[in-house]
Amino acid sequence: MSAPETFTGNRGLQLEEPLTFETGDPALSAVDLPPVPEAPDRLGGLAREGEIGLPGLSEPQVMRHYLRLSQKNYAIDAGFYPLGSCTMKHNPRLNEKVARLPGLGDLHPLQPVSTVQGALAVMDACAHWLKTLTGMPAVAMSPAAGAHGELTGLMTIRAALEAAGDARAKVLVPESAHGTNPASAHFCGYGVESIPANDRGRVDLAAFKDKLGGDVAAVMLTNPNTCGLFEDEILEIAEAIHGIGGYFYCDGANFNAIVGRVRPGDLGIDCMHLNLHKTFSTPHGGGGPGSGPVVLSAPLAPFAPLPYVVHGPDGFRLVEHAADSDGRPFGRVKGFHGQFGVFVRALAYMMSMGSDGLRQVSEDAVLNANYLLAGLKDDLSPSFDGPCMHEVLFDDHFLRNTGVSTLDMAKALIDEGFHPMTMYFPLVVHGALLMEPTETESKETLDLFIATVRDLARRAKAGEADSFHAAPRLTPRRRLDETLAARKPVLRWTPPAPAADAAD
Ligand SMILES: Cc1ncc(COP(=O)(O)O)c(C=O)c1O
Repeated sequence: MSAPETFTGNRGLQLEEPLTFETGDPALSAVDLPPVPEAPDRLGGLAREGEIGLPGLSEPQVMRHYLRLSQKNYAIDAGFYPLGSCTMKHNPRLNEKVARLPGLGDLHPLQPVSTVQGALAVMDACAHWLKTLTGMPAVAMSPAAGAHGELTGLMTIRAALEAAGDARAKVLVPESAHGTNPASAHFCGYGVESIPANDRGRVDLAAFKDKLGGDVAAVMLTNPNTCGLFEDEILEIAEAIHGIGGYFYCDGANFNAIVGRVRPGDLGIDCMHLNLHKTFSTPHGGGGPGSGPVVLSAPLAPFAPLPYVVHGPDGFRLVEHAADSDGRPFGRVKGFHGQFGVFVRALAYMMSMGSDGLRQVSEDAVLNANYLLAGLKDDLSPSFDGPCMHEVLFDDHFLRNTGVSTLDMAKALIDEGFHPMTMYFPLVVHGALLMEPTETESKETLDLFIATVRDLARRAKAGEADSFHAAPRLTPRRRLDETLAARKPVLRWTPPAPAADAAD
């Protein structure tokens, strides 16, 4: 079998990984299939006429190819991953084990309800924990991600307003909100108005109040916000939005900063999605499944989407049709019942942590971020005064006149063995570096990270910009040219020209 020049046996780990199409030998196969019985015309006109051209590979070749590719990835299981706003924390393997139990992992969503009572009990228990932790009376479990939860929450708000004959046109979104918030509001058909941040990185309350009017359906606040700060005027915000008959949407994806300490229901919030895949531990990043249940206040609960689980004298059942519902559900947002495997993981996580363990989560998440702040504040430039919540924001002031940019810092960190922090987000500060250590990192890891970042900052200030521009040097791919000029033109499909008329 001929192999491309780039692939040299066991040194393949450091080198280019060829495509399976480049290494495949048509004579090889990973499976031994029995000969196909002669059955002419079994598929009629649908029968394939030629080879489909799949690469022929043995099972070890396939395994090694994918393992080598996976080793070129950075992962939370490989090292520290302080990607702000993403809560890249360790996922206890216990939750994975529970989710794979055959009685849970092998279920089919179309099984008769009488055979899945345990699974419905899991969904019900998970919903119960989420309602208890947030102090909210209802939860829609089916949204499949945070942004999907945002859309679902806004659709619930719209359904409630329309039912009251009060359809409204606008949603207010603070500058310090997560980027998915304005996108979800726009997607839901609302006009989006931005509220500026004040010089403390929080919502400018006066500017917010100026924008309130009878056409505002909701405000969408991220709390703690993307500057890593608690919105300390949140009660005033709730009162003001309710005062004009609008709803208070809160992006609860950063719930690990407050879980067990603050119940959003007590803050006047009407609607909030939770990223189970962030706060409640599930593979996150690299394509792990997401889940974004939305907790709802009493006025919104009747409009929650289908399906939902109820418990009656005959056990659990799913309410799947509007006619069977006590409320006025606006419809479904997902096939079947949501991300069941993530519910199992989240429930296993919550039960194994217990309420005291969950309180500890928020304490440690905030402590770790403040430890980074304290360790880096003299060498970097913190964007706002005072302590932070679960993540800490720096701007690029400390890099001024060094020839080193936020991007260069991030690339240099890769060579030091760390995943970079989030760069250039949030937009409220210049050249943002947003670091989220999460609650699962040890003091030793944070100390090493602090020492590394300090060293980079000092090298930048000492005039070593050139070495930054060359980074990363130790990765399978070197720095890509991300300038606009380097962008390839977008390939667009052009419809084939209509066939010339045979008579012409
Ligand atoms: C604050 C915040 N809101 C919303 C989202 C969107 O969640 P998802 O990526 O699951 O759609 C994220 C993503 O991490 C987030 O950090």
